[in-house]
Amino acid sequence: MNPSWAGEAGAGEVGIWAAHMGSPGAGAQARNARRGAPPAGRTDEWLARRAKRFAWGTAPADLIAVNPPMARTERRNLRQREQLFDTPDWLKQKQCPHKAKYMAGPRIQPRNITGKEKLPDLIDATFLAYNGARLREGVQLFTNRMLEPDVTVGLSVSGALTPAGLGCSSIIPLIKAGFVDWIVSTGANLYHDLHFALNFPVHAGSPKFDDTDLRDNDLVRIYDVVIPYSDGLMATDEILREIMLQPEFQKEMGTAELHYLIGRYAAEWERKNGLKDVSVMAAAYRAGVPCYTSSPGDSTIGMNVAGVELRGSKLRVNPSIDVNETTSFVLAAKRGGGRSAVVLLGGGSPKNFMLQTEPQIQEVLRIKEFGQDFFLQITDARPDTGGLSGATPSEAVSWGKVDPARLPDAVVCYTDSTIALPLMTHYALARRKRRKLRRLYDQRAACMKALTREYFTHNKVKMIDGSEPDLG
Ligand SMILES: NC(=O)c1ccc[n+]([C@@H]2O[C@H](COP(=O)([O-])OP(=O)(O)OC[C@H]3O[C@@H](n4cnc5c(N)ncnc54)[C@H](O)[C@@H]3O)[C@@H](O)[C@H]2O)c1
Repeated sequence: MNPSWAGEAGAGEVGIWAAHMGSPGAGAQARNARRGAPPAGRTDEWLARRAKRFAWGTAPADLIAVNPPMARTERRNLRQREQLFDTPDWLKQKQCPHKAKYMAGPRIQPRNITGKEKLPDLIDATFLAYNGARLREGVQLFTNRMLEPDVTVGLSVSGALTPAGLGCSSIIPLIKAGFVDWIVSTGANLYHDLHFALNFPVHAGSPKFDDTDLRDNDLVRIYDVVIPYSDGLMATDEILREIMLQPEFQKEMGTAELHYLIGRYAAEWERKNGLKDVSVMAAAYRAGVPCYTSSPGDSTIGMNVAGVELRGSKLRVNPSIDVNETTSFVLAAKRGGGRSAVVLLGGGSPKNFMLQTEPQIQEVLRIKEFGQDFFLQITDARPDTGGLSGATPSEAVSWGKVDPARLPDAVVCYTDSTIALPLMTHYALARRKRRKLRRLYDQRAACMKALTREYFTHNKVKMIDGSEPDLG
């Protein structure tokens, strides 16, 4: 240590600080002199002056002594910390023209849950962020916007929902309340729906069941649902084949008619078994809700159609009937001055089948249209794989499936339909009066006629045999 520094600093903290500075050698002393190091004999005064400069304000001398001058970075950090306590001038003066818009959502400060809340109130008040918020937005979109009287609502159903009881608990009440006007489902959901009409048991089980043991015990498993094989599946198949051999099935038809005819038998089976509202197909039959499947061959219903064909059945399923009929419903909704909505449970081919109605109108039939007005999807599928199941409504805009102007009325909720659907059904039934049944099944011929007329009006084409189309 340089004795002159230490001695000149005197006793106490400044001296200690000075000691920390180390003792400059000859070169250092020369540097210090250049930087304004204390001239001999004036160290205390110089230190106090220098400390004052760094201490911003008029700190008492003893405090200055305890808090020596800071390095430049330290000073900068302190400055930033101090500014947190007050809105700085630069922020006060900043223009934030969109701030109010982004802060327009509900404040996140829900009340404590008591256990006495009604479910719709709980959803409104506590589903505030992430997929909880998407679910709240979805049920509100469905209830407040899609269920307005002028909106025609299509429901697509993928995933094994009827075996999980979602048909009984949710889809049937939605049909009965007039909240669903047409359906596209996987054949599997409609096939398994028949077990309920026929009173064959479907039971809750476990995903941990030993599948070899299940097979040995004549049971099949869908994740944690078990269904008897011989006296469940095979018994259903046998009755289904008997039904499909009846005279009214011996022709070409679309799947709405096929399921309507099966639904009539399902309704009869429900009645005979003393059951009420357990079968989706029976409920759809009674409410005149047309029920389509996008892949007629891809389920046990399709397998049995193929089976009876080997025995000479004349039943032929024509998917083009389905494509045109579903398209005609969407066009009829628009041309009648109303709007069209889609609720998509899961993805898969029912999702596309429902959404392709708009490209069918615009791209194939060359009729000017703009896309669906409302879009709600419940799904587990991610968009980044390029798969249809996870494709977003904005991607659907690029295909003409969704009206770009209505994109704010589109919600995707990433959750399991078995969670979302009962909540949505409860919310809608609690908050909305039932709607008059639209009975689109009975209006298929009229809607098809309107579609055909508009097609020939927009396209200068004739029938392929050269004749004029019969526009009745
Ligand atoms: N015995 C039968 O009749 C039978 C049985 C099973 C499947 N199938 C057929 O197999 C095909 C596939 O049907 P699927 O229903 O298994 O389709 P799937 O499981 O492929 O579902 C389609 C998409 O929907 C989403 N999804 C599925 N379950 C969901 C859930 N619970 N919540 C949220 N999103 C969900 C997933 O993203 C999935 O990719 C259909 O054509 C069906 O008819 C037939």
